Amino acid sequence: MKDLADYQRKIMITGGAGFIGSNLLRYMVDKYPGYLFINVDKLTYAGNLASLMGIEDRENYIFVKADIADSELIDQLFSDYQIDGVINLAAESHVDRSIMGPAQFLQTNIMGAFTLLEVCRKHKNEGKSIRYHQISTDEVFGSLGSEGFFCEDSRYSPSSPYAASKAAGDHFTLAYHKTYGLDTLVSNSSNNYGPYQFPEKLIPLMIHNGLKGKPLPVYGDGRQVRDWLYVIDHCHAIDLIYHKGISGKTYNVGANNEIKNIDLVRNICSILDDLTGESGHADLIRFVEDRPGHDRRYAIDASLLRDELGWKPAHAFDEGLRETVKWYLDNIEWVEACINGEYKDYYKEWYAKRLGG
Ligand code: NAD
Ligand code: TYD
Repeated sequence: MKDLADYQRKIMITGGAGFIGSNLLRYMVDKYPGYLFINVDKLTYAGNLASLMGIEDRENYIFVKADIADSELIDQLFSDYQIDGVINLAAESHVDRSIMGPAQFLQTNIMGAFTLLEVCRKHKNEGKSIRYHQISTDEVFGSLGSEGFFCEDSRYSPSSPYAASKAAGDHFTLAYHKTYGLDTLVSNSSNNYGPYQFPEKLIPLMIHNGLKGKPLPVYGDGRQVRDWLYVIDHCHAIDLIYHKGISGKTYNVGANNEIKNIDLVRNICSILDDLTGESGHADLIRFVEDRPGHDRRYAIDASLLRDELGWKPAHAFDEGLRETVKWYLDNIEWVEACINGEYKDYYKEWYAKRLGG
């Protein structure tokens, strides 16, 4: 590591061992050799340092194992590394787990975000200039009917404990701008897909179960719609919003890739048929008991981000999905390492009844 004064910026990226965080760090560490990135991650079941292989020895990257809700340690890190920016991705991120046990979602997604904001406020009061970017989700807006899109001023109406906890984090972020003049941003993105996503989420779960010849559990009638965004396109958007976004504003991020869950699962099955040379993956599809409070449709209007900051996604969904399936096939050890005892317990508890034992 160089002298701190030699780094142009010192940015704390939280949750950097998770899906989006690890993709973001790979991208940012390469793009900004003159910045220092401090990855603060508690390494919960979803955190995986193997996702960061290749950047761990870089001169502009440091990993610190810490809980974002640990105010003393976060404050110490701010002083030690003269932090001038935070991009907060650390979160409990899985809706189904939030239904099974919401408490940790409040602790990390609300108390953790609040702790980061408080430490930012303290250091701002001591004369530092600090930017705080809260990475959030379109799930805070609740469900759409068959028409329309979420805009930045859509009403918050979260359905799951996960979405409610993220909504609270967003509200605190905006309140700290209005009340304390903290330089904050919020971005709300649609569902991400791509490499390094924990196999509890729809796309990697279907790929992995399909490969293993295990059932593919589709909730309810499978006609719920999600609007998929390639994770690298999201990382480009975060970079742009962090550097060019207007303080106090919210930006929606989405790539206009609406698809019904059942159609997506069928697409994954035909890519698996093609790439493995074995047909019949779609025979594994099982319609199972629905997720309680399941939102019917998400769709993002990202025109503000496009018109104000010039962002546009670079990945077409069909290509991105095929690349993603290929990545999981080529990185089976990475996935297998996630399938540990904790994950097996979770899987059994959530799916045993749904899949009939
Ligand atoms: P993830 O579950 O893959 O990773 C979360 C990371 O946060 C893990 O590395 C975990 O160890 C870490 N973490 C959890 N609690 C922590 C704590 N208390 N202190 C420090 N680190 C902690 O999540 P993801 O899919 O990468 O999502 C990242 C962020 O983006 C989240 O805030 C999520 O709400 C948001 N988001 C995700 C999606 C998506 O489709 N995945 C879409 C929109 C927004
Ligand atoms: P998920 O990846 O959990 O993301 P989110 O709930 O944040 O949108 O789920 C995406 C969609 O897939 C959602 O409508 C729920 C559905 N789904 C299933 O049908 N079966 C599954 O086993 C999982 C995990 C999700």
